[in-house]
Amino acid sequence: MSSPTIGVFDSGFGGLTVLRELLPLIRGAHYVYLGDTARLPYGAKSQTTIARYAVESARFLEQHNADLLVIACNTATALALPQIEAAVSIPVVGVIEPVVCAAQQRHPNADVLVLATSATVQSQAYRQHCEAHGLRATEKACPLLVPLVEEGWTDHHVTREVLSIYLREALETCNPQAILLGCTHYPLIASAIESMLRTLGSQAVVIDSAQATAAAVASHFDITPLPSTPPATFECYATDSVEKFRLLGSQFLAHPIDKVQLLNIGG
Ligand code: DGL
Repeated sequence: MSSPTIGVFDSGFGGLTVLRELLPLIRGAHYVYLGDTARLPYGAKSQTTIARYAVESARFLEQHNADLLVIACNTATALALPQIEAAVSIPVVGVIEPVVCAAQQRHPNADVLVLATSATVQSQAYRQHCEAHGLRATEKACPLLVPLVEEGWTDHHVTREVLSIYLREALETCNPQAILLGCTHYPLIASAIESMLRTLGSQAVVIDSAQATAAAVASHFDITPLPSTPPATFECYATDSVEKFRLLGSQFLAHPIDKVQLLNIGG
């Protein structure tokens, strides 16, 4: 396949962290991104609701000619991956297995701390994947982080204060060698997380699901970029606040998003 179309889905900005990692890996692709901003946060919702939202989004991306679908949302991956796979007929890559594999390769048999949304933690998906790979996981729900990132407060004293509370509480219960960022919004505050860990005396290494997932997606395609490979093209959809998505999204993606189209999906 010379120039694949790759569908990338998240509830909001978080999936852009996966897209950001994909751009240099699969250079000539056409990317169709969907941020379900009208119904965010997924992390505070039930399994039934998350599965319904995620399946609607996955079908939309398949109808927009995606050859492969990236569920760039840990919450949707944790609670709805089987339903999404059953709803579409293209390959689906979730975010949890890649990041757990990356952690296991770098830190075999380690104690890890998983930071994630409440729904992801309640699903125990990370705990099960970690156990299957010989890692001992402690999970910490960090429900305030997604709204702070969606507000654009990635470098803000309130975000640092919230992080210090969550990380202090988590480190009272474990002494991890690695921290798994189990939400695709969290790479946008990775430097704040790392610096807060050091302040609290932890030397744990931060591993994010975006990099690991992008590598897993790239392994589906046999593409050697040539100097003549054209740049990636984008089609970007959000279910609410398209102008905010264009402005903040361009910053988060570190690449201009020219236009975000409003999508009326579901209800
Ligand atoms: N980015 C999503 C994730 O990776 C979470 C955002 C939300 O709660 O909607 O879990």
